[in-house]
Amino acid sequence: MKAIVFNRFGAPDEVLELTTLPDPTPPGPGEVVVRVTKRQLHPGNLMMVRGKFNFPMPADGFLIPGADGVGIVEAVGEDVDASSLKPGMRVIFNPSPGAWAERVKTRVELVTPIPDDLPDAVAVQMLPNAVIALMLLREAQRAVPEAGRETPILLNAAGSSVARFLTLAAHRRGLKVIGAVRSENGAKMLSRRFPDLPVVSTAESDWPDQLRQAAGSRPLQVIMDPVAGAMIGDLVPLLGDGGALLLYGVMSPEPITFPLSALAREIMFKGVSSSRWMQQTSAEQRRDDVAEAIEMGRGSPEKFEVEAEYDLAQFADAVKHIERANRHGAILLSSDL
Ligand SMILES: NC(=O)c1ccc[n+]([C@@H]2O[C@H](COP(=O)([O-])OP(=O)(O)OC[C@H]3O[C@@H](n4cnc5c(N)ncnc54)[C@H](OP(=O)(O)O)[C@@H]3O)[C@@H](O)[C@H]2O)c1
Repeated sequence: MKAIVFNRFGAPDEVLELTTLPDPTPPGPGEVVVRVTKRQLHPGNLMMVRGKFNFPMPADGFLIPGADGVGIVEAVGEDVDASSLKPGMRVIFNPSPGAWAERVKTRVELVTPIPDDLPDAVAVQMLPNAVIALMLLREAQRAVPEAGRETPILLNAAGSSVARFLTLAAHRRGLKVIGAVRSENGAKMLSRRFPDLPVVSTAESDWPDQLRQAAGSRPLQVIMDPVAGAMIGDLVPLLGDGGALLLYGVMSPEPITFPLSALAREIMFKGVSSSRWMQQTSAEQRRDDVAEAIEMGRGSPEKFEVEAEYDLAQFADAVKHIERANRHGAILLSSDL
């Protein structure tokens, strides 16, 4: 099978290569082999290639990026219940390392069949971004149970794919959210996608005041931020005493600036990661999360545009594309385009 691999951490354009690997061995008990048809590229995929996660590189081995995708079940272990999963079914999977290959062997509990009316191009965007969004909403409620009721939750980088799920899932729960994006153009694009979402561009010098106003001139209770960097120093003062900053990404190359006044004001600063979903979340909650992700995709397919689709062999162009600013949709890597 074709696969994208790397054998040292570094710049994606220097270390990633297309190769041919043996197909996975037949699935054992509790396992399933999926022929992957599409994967969504995520900023986190490139961070992993750059060695930003504490992921060990196997000694004289290699890694395959990607951990999620959509595909067709090719084979299942002999103990797998055929009424729940059988060859030929369309499925999404997450988290299963090695998704940038034509086939993935994974555990049956990480694979979910998808309904016929959910197109591959939408289904492929459901995981893991919906998972981190639902985890963030649970963390917000744990930190400040009334968050989003009177005072809206602030989503930074609100044009991102994760923030799209956050907005949809918050609205399903009757929670208020407001968004911040880094450009005027991004604000316009987001307002077209979510006409009811108050959006502020941080390119404007008075953006903190605009956000205070959008929050009804009340201090914020929860901010969800995947940018970090120096901006943290501007976001924390928007929080009221005892408020929470949930950090789930580090897109800024700058070091984090955390104002010390936040200590006296008992601001909670918490990292949230979908890599803890398997350990931290019950099997029942995980099933509910995946079911809600599918519901969001079915209910609002127009929110999940695709900006470009590349064949697996064109991975280098796809990787360059994901790093462009102002994208309006997902970048997909497909097999057999
Ligand atoms: N913790 C976890 O488990 C987890 C899981 C999934 C994703 N994430 C993180 O969530 C974040 C979003 O992922 P995604 O897949 O939703 O991304 P995405 O769809 O590729 O969107 C990235 C967004 O971030 C904005 N952005 C990029 N750099 C920025 C900066 N320096 N300042 C402000 N905005 C910036 C972009 O704005 P423009 O539109 O202006 O270009 C774009 O709207 C990433 O940091 C990712 O690592 C974390």
